[in-house]
Amino acid sequence: MRRVGRSMVIAGVLVLAWPVHAAVSGADAKGTLSYDRFERSAVCASCHVDIYQQWTQAMMSQAFTHHWDEIEYFELAVEHARRDPALQDAVDGCNGCHTPMAYLAGDLPPPRPSEGSRANESVNCDVCHTITGFAGDTPFNFNWTIEPGRTKYGNKPGLVSPHHDTAESDFIKSAEFCGTCHNEQSPHGAWVKSTQLEWAAGPYAAEGVPCHRCHMPAAMGRNAKMAEEGLVSQHLFHGAHDPGKLRGAVELRMHPQEREILFDDTAVIKVQLFNAKAGHKIPSGSVEDRLVWLHVEATDSDGKTYHLPVDAKHFAGEEYTIAADVLAYQDLGLARGDPDFAGLPRDGVPVGDRIFRMPYFDPQGRMTIMQWNTKSFGPDYRIGPRETIIETFSWPLPSDIALGPVTVTATLNYQLLVEPVARFLNVPPEEYRTTIINAATTTFAVYD
Ligand code: HEC
Ligand code: HEC
Ligand code: HEC
Ligand code: HEC
Ligand code: HEC
Repeated sequence: MRRVGRSMVIAGVLVLAWPVHAAVSGADAKGTLSYDRFERSAVCASCHVDIYQQWTQAMMSQAFTHHWDEIEYFELAVEHARRDPALQDAVDGCNGCHTPMAYLAGDLPPPRPSEGSRANESVNCDVCHTITGFAGDTPFNFNWTIEPGRTKYGNKPGLVSPHHDTAESDFIKSAEFCGTCHNEQSPHGAWVKSTQLEWAAGPYAAEGVPCHRCHMPAAMGRNAKMAEEGLVSQHLFHGAHDPGKLRGAVELRMHPQEREILFDDTAVIKVQLFNAKAGHKIPSGSVEDRLVWLHVEATDSDGKTYHLPVDAKHFAGEEYTIAADVLAYQDLGLARGDPDFAGLPRDGVPVGDRIFRMPYFDPQGRMTIMQWNTKSFGPDYRIGPRETIIETFSWPLPSDIALGPVTVTATLNYQLLVEPVARFLNVPPEEYRTTIINAATTTFAVYD
């Protein structure tokens, strides 16, 4: 405990001022600050009306409470640590990002969301606005430093508020601020989340465009009901849970190499996928959960539909990027007390479709969705910021194809959680629904 209380005696009355403490960060901060050091977001709501409503709709206010988070934390992570105590710190650490107040209060594991405790506030206003910097060179694993109290740090100088002091902070405006929670290293030292690191290596960092420009865009308005009009950073934090953010993030075009193809020849179709919208790779963040896949179908002049599998490129580990009928996720059994668990279908999408992913491997080399049990990775076959990837589909025309025009359609799909895992763990369907990122079509003619 590094906290030091400060008290003053004035005219015989004991006045307790804000306790002063050396700033704490990361794992050292566990259990050092009680809940009552932080104000509730509902208090901020009385003046910051729009920002509060935006926050309640964003994943930030649900990072502890929404179903898949509750299921993974309580049914997998907490259970895994109960069976393997070496994991306890890492599993306590989930809360360092998902409900920082509970972590700081040492309320671990926090009560279930149904108990209605303050842990449910998730990533709340007062946490983000009393973070002052971070420890070390690389932001990751909640290594922010925090000084809760009267001063709320923001992006503007010289603002006056009747409720609190304000201070401009260069840190809160930086991508490193976001990186303290959006980069994560597993207990095995693997970078299981690296959104800020991906951003830093890409074109947007070089152009000085931080996360905020795309996830907290500024618009004219009032940031508090009594404030002057000005450009206000909107607290949208819209990401993969917002179909509107996903739609069009990758642009698709496609063409056949020849427009007229003999009935017993091979059609060769090329699809270009351009990451036009994201400042990091797609998918980013919870890469172990997400499924992004390209499905291509052709329809002949009789209306008959054929599925086209992707051509292999023959890089190491490519088999993890082409949908197959194989099992994975055997380590779910470790968390659930069933070490002989046979596993679940790895992909749950049509065999032969291209998957844009980086597979996570457990210490035994098996594919996992448990990032705390991740030791290594397969090939990183995701689409980088402003990167274009080309996929080829060589299709020996089937003997029963009708002569005449053929229409080929490519669809890029997104699931927040690979479906066989979601079904097995009873995750509500809306938390793994399929969103179409984009689609494209082209045509050719078959002649004899
Ligand atoms: C009684 C009204 C009121 C309450 C309650 C209130 N604020 Fe404010 N806050 C303001 C006003 C007014 C401003 C200045 C707005 C301006 O001039 O643009 C402000 C400014 C801010 C800023 C911008 C600081 C900067 O320098 O950029 C932040 C951040 C902030 N408030 C956070 C909070 C948080 C977090 C809470 C809840 C813990 C909160 N406020 C509660 C009225 C309030
Ligand atoms: C995940 C962290 C995070 C959370 C949670 C958060 N904010 Fe912010 N807030 C920021 C950042 C970052 C900025 C600065 C944006 C920029 O630099 O463009 C900011 C800016 C602000 C501003 C000044 C906006 C402006 O441009 O005038 C106010 C006021 C504010 N926040 C209040 C709140 C309130 C109230 C809540 C809760 C309802 C809240 N914030 C929740 C990160 C957060
Ligand atoms: C205190 C930790 C913390 C900080 C700081 C933080 N985030 Fe987050 N953020 C989270 C957590 C935890 C989630 C996951 C919510 C969930 O469980 O789905 C999240 C979710 C998001 C999402 C939604 C992703 C999706 O899949 O829909 C976006 C976008 C996002 N954050 C952007 C930012 C940006 C931009 C910043 C910096 C301005 C930032 N975050 C700062 C913890 C943080
Ligand atoms: C140029 C705009 C842009 C910038 C800059 C940007 N993002 Fe994003 N972000 C997007 C778009 C578009 C998506 C939706 C596509 C996707 O999920 O990758 C997204 C998705 C996300 C997601 C959800 C990823 C997933 O697949 O689950 C998170 C988390 C996120 N961003 C955080 C950040 C953080 C943190 C930064 C800064 C380090 C950042 N973003 C910078 C545009 C941007
Ligand atoms: C360093 C911060 C950090 C730590 C530690 C962390 N998370 Fe997260 N977690 C995040 C962020 C940020 C996201 C959002 C990423 C995205 O949207 O792609 C996230 C996303 C998730 C999601 C997906 C939510 C969704 O709706 O799709 C689950 C589930 C989850 N975390 C559970 C856990 C568990 C369990 C642990 C502990 C073993 C943990 N997290 C540790 C920051 C963290």
